[in-house]
Amino acid sequence: MKITIIAATGGVGRQLVGQALASGHDVTAVARNPAKLPPDVLAAGTARVIAADLARPDPQVLESAVAGADAVLSALGPHNNSDAGIAAPGTRIAKILFGKVYDDLARMEDVLRDSGLDWTILRPPQLTGKPLTGRYRTARGRNVRGGRSIPRADVADYMLALLAQPDTIGQVIGIAT
Ligand SMILES: NC(=O)c1ccc[n+]([C@@H]2O[C@H](COP(=O)([O-])OP(=O)(O)OC[C@H]3O[C@@H](n4cnc5c(N)ncnc54)[C@H](OP(=O)(O)O)[C@@H]3O)[C@@H](O)[C@H]2O)c1
Repeated sequence: MKITIIAATGGVGRQLVGQALASGHDVTAVARNPAKLPPDVLAAGTARVIAADLARPDPQVLESAVAGADAVLSALGPHNNSDAGIAAPGTRIAKILFGKVYDDLARMEDVLRDSGLDWTILRPPQLTGKPLTGRYRTARGRNVRGGRSIPRADVADYMLALLAQPDTIGQVIGIAT
């Protein structure tokens, strides 16, 4: 599949890029600082890389990033205090891409629900840097009971698995080890 990965340099984003390439997907990686991408991704030219600061989104750049994509996966979130609030404005890029710019500060999930896109929202608890296990629990419409953490690698694994599960469109899904 042709997949565009937003925030490709983050903890989850790097996992998404690595796993998607390993699975043979055609990856477009979007990052505000592409130099932070793993050297093997950059050196091998395995992913198309697009630089974009989503605090100051350029619609033309983002349109080119998603053009022809079968799916867009976002691991966008505040990396530090100076990024506070990025989740909702960053998600508004979806609106910009489809020609509607909203001037409210709707929260990320509200924007997605109202986007007209085929969306799925994942809600993990504490993210860890542990290796991929492939063993995790999910719960539709609620958090996983007693789920306290999950490796970023497993979140990425499930995000990619969702691409083949159209029945998850329009669902909010809790995920945890
Ligand atoms: N940490 C947790 O335990 C936890 C639990 C539940 C949910 N979450 C959510 O999951 C998200 C992903 O987690 P993570 O560990 O992968 O976080 P992360 O490593 O901090 O990654 C956040 C990503 O967002 C990018 N970003 C932030 N502001 C941006 C901007 N203005 N333009 C473009 N990109 C921007 C960062 O880019 P840079 O690489 O350039 O900084 C980074 O790639 C978190 O941000 C949070 O919202 C986290």
